[in-house]
Amino acid sequence: MKEKAEQIKSTLLKDIESVKKIQELMDLKSKYLGKSGMITELTKNMKDLSVEERKEVGMISNTLKNEVTEIIEQCEKKINEELLNEKLQNEVIDITLPSKKIKRGSLHPMTRITEEFEDLFVSMGYTVYSGPEIESDENCFQKLNLPKGHPARDAQDTFYLTDEVESFLLRSQTSTAQVRAMEENVDKGPIRIVCPGKVYRRDEDATHSHQFMQIEGLVIDKNVSMADLKGTLELFCKKILGEKTQVRFRPSYFPFTEPSVEVDVTCFKCGGKGCNLCKQTGWIEVLGAGMVHPDVLSMSGYDPNVYQGFAFGTGIDRFAMFKYGIPDIRTIYGNDIRFIEQFDRKDED
Ligand code: DAH
Repeated sequence: MKEKAEQIKSTLLKDIESVKKIQELMDLKSKYLGKSGMITELTKNMKDLSVEERKEVGMISNTLKNEVTEIIEQCEKKINEELLNEKLQNEVIDITLPSKKIKRGSLHPMTRITEEFEDLFVSMGYTVYSGPEIESDENCFQKLNLPKGHPARDAQDTFYLTDEVESFLLRSQTSTAQVRAMEENVDKGPIRIVCPGKVYRRDEDATHSHQFMQIEGLVIDKNVSMADLKGTLELFCKKILGEKTQVRFRPSYFPFTEPSVEVDVTCFKCGGKGCNLCKQTGWIEVLGAGMVHPDVLSMSGYDPNVYQGFAFGTGIDRFAMFKYGIPDIRTIYGNDIRFIEQFDRKDED
């Protein structure tokens, strides 16, 4: 009996040497310890034995069972360890590999310059106002003193959305924000806003795009004068284009302001000496402005005998083109990533 047990043990030790996989081990386990396994087989004839013999067979078979179980468990542990090691080996991260470059984006020059304008006016107590790009004819023209058939409408031909009465259109100027801000202000008190945004016109060449950006400013209060307008715009031009910039005001005409002015700055390319950019004049026109026309005030519910205001408007693209040296306005809206990448951190230079 003892020899038989020894024999079983040694065949097991031999069998187990070639075991590589868990499944093979499980097969081996049932071969030895299973219901009709070798050890069970060993105790099969117990009932025919004497009490003494039964005791001995029981002891031997129990010891064998424990030893076999132990050997199998050891082997299982070894296989699992090997599996784990193999897994770890495969999942090893090669820290010497160069990492993937993180692509850093850059702000579009129009976003950059618009934020610069906004920051400047906010620092002077203005709020940023935004109006819709689809406007009524009334807000875009009529309430700004441009009734139907007014010749000054020709310069701002835009895209009409409804034919019959031409009542809705893509706004041709951000001056529409003046009307909206005044009408929304129910207590008809002071206003100080800037409204940047897209505008549309039937234009298309190297310096004109059917879509471009303007920023409008409106200040309404008691005792507002042309001196306030001059001071504000001088500061604005110097902050955006440099302290050396000189500013000149020329009389002009806009239907919604009286008096009206156009604002020129000394050419930022030649500093006023004359070059191809300023067409040898030394000056570049950048803004339209004026004192809000009394009729415009009263059409939107303000009493012109109590309140005055000044307003100004400028093309943001124009400023960006000068500031960044962009020769063709169409590249601003061309959606070419190479164009945008050139402006990475330009402002911090
Ligand atoms: N809206 C005018 C334009 O598009 C610019 C302008 C001129 C705005 C005079 C104003 C202003 O507020 O007072 O040409």
